[in-house]
Amino acid sequence: MTSSRYKVCITLGTRPEAIKLAPVIQKFRDSEAFETHVILTGQHREMVEQVMQLFEITADEDLNIMQPKQTLTDITYRSLQGLESIFKRIQPHCVIVQGDTTTAFAATLAAFYQQIPIGHVEAGLRTDNIYNPYPEEANRRLISQLAQLHFAPTQLAVENLNRSSVTGEVHLTGNTVIDALLTVADKQPECNVKGLDWNQYRVLLATVHRRENWGEPLQDILRGFHLILDKFPNTALLLPMHRNPTVREPIKASLGNHPRVFLTEPLDYGELVGAIQRCYLLLTDSGGLQEEAPSLGKPVLVLRKTTERPEAVDAGTAKLVGTDYQDIVSNSSELLSNKVAYEKMANAVNPFGDGQASDRILEIVQHYLGENH
Ligand code: UD1
Repeated sequence: MTSSRYKVCITLGTRPEAIKLAPVIQKFRDSEAFETHVILTGQHREMVEQVMQLFEITADEDLNIMQPKQTLTDITYRSLQGLESIFKRIQPHCVIVQGDTTTAFAATLAAFYQQIPIGHVEAGLRTDNIYNPYPEEANRRLISQLAQLHFAPTQLAVENLNRSSVTGEVHLTGNTVIDALLTVADKQPECNVKGLDWNQYRVLLATVHRRENWGEPLQDILRGFHLILDKFPNTALLLPMHRNPTVREPIKASLGNHPRVFLTEPLDYGELVGAIQRCYLLLTDSGGLQEEAPSLGKPVLVLRKTTERPEAVDAGTAKLVGTDYQDIVSNSSELLSNKVAYEKMANAVNPFGDGQASDRILEIVQHYLGENH
């Protein structure tokens, strides 16, 4: 590495950041113009390792902050403190963060304190409810106020950023999740789950993890799952469980003994893409799945009150159903029994990008640093 290269730090802590930054990291690492440092806060451990291995990415630094039952304060201050000394040592020309996690927010703040320009991947998502999703809606707003380069995935995100009066440059790049998804889907990944015969059942693929769904809403969701399985004996439920014990324990207690429920560890990204391709329908509170499933032509019922991804709802492939068990059952029943309604939602659309977002991000960062250094 020569000193004439631009130094860029790419920070990440959780699984979705790893997936969405993997194609970006690959582009920066391949470029002659950059000396790229990948920094893990360690907010997640196993769930990030899986993704890093799949995309053959290695980290240069790992703060290893994860603790059982970590609070938002724990994550923020441990990341902030660790990143301060790393940024002081490396002196990057630019720091790249992704999305709306607490890692992304802490990295933004750490870079701002040292007046390092920040590039925000997947900028401009909004629900207009500061507590939903919590704390992500606040994180993404705070990051937007401090970043110099905003990489907006869609035109709607561009408009949201303009409405937020952000400083810095707003660029429409597409979402890097599509770059990652297309690379992986191309390889026709398998998804082998012990005991699950994909041809025997119509498989519902479900995930739940969001903080605002902990407690009562999660119980309601689980009740909805039971009722759907009772009503449709030809269905099975595949639920890869998040590592967080706060969501894991109630899921196991409720569904653990059901003969048509398959609870697994978090699938690696290849298996997850394979599962989306093979399943009938998705029920999820995940943001990433709302982007991935439409691209693979699968309907998504969103188990949340709000979504910052109305593009999939507008395109007709996702529907916001909330966490009320009756709404979950009625919406699922419609898709399981009405072929016309199902086909209407099962459209392969790509409202989130064309698979070239990381190329654009690299070009924009290079141009920006060329002008400003
Ligand atoms: C975090 C993000 C959320 C993102 C989600 C994706 C914040 C506030 N939340 O939520 O935006 O959608 O990641 O998964 O940044 N754990 C492990 N091993 C792991 C990962 C997690 O054991 O590899 C356990 C730990 O006990 C940890 C708990 O999961 O305390 C919760 O993790 P945390 O990062 O606090 O919140 P998430 O719900 O994962």
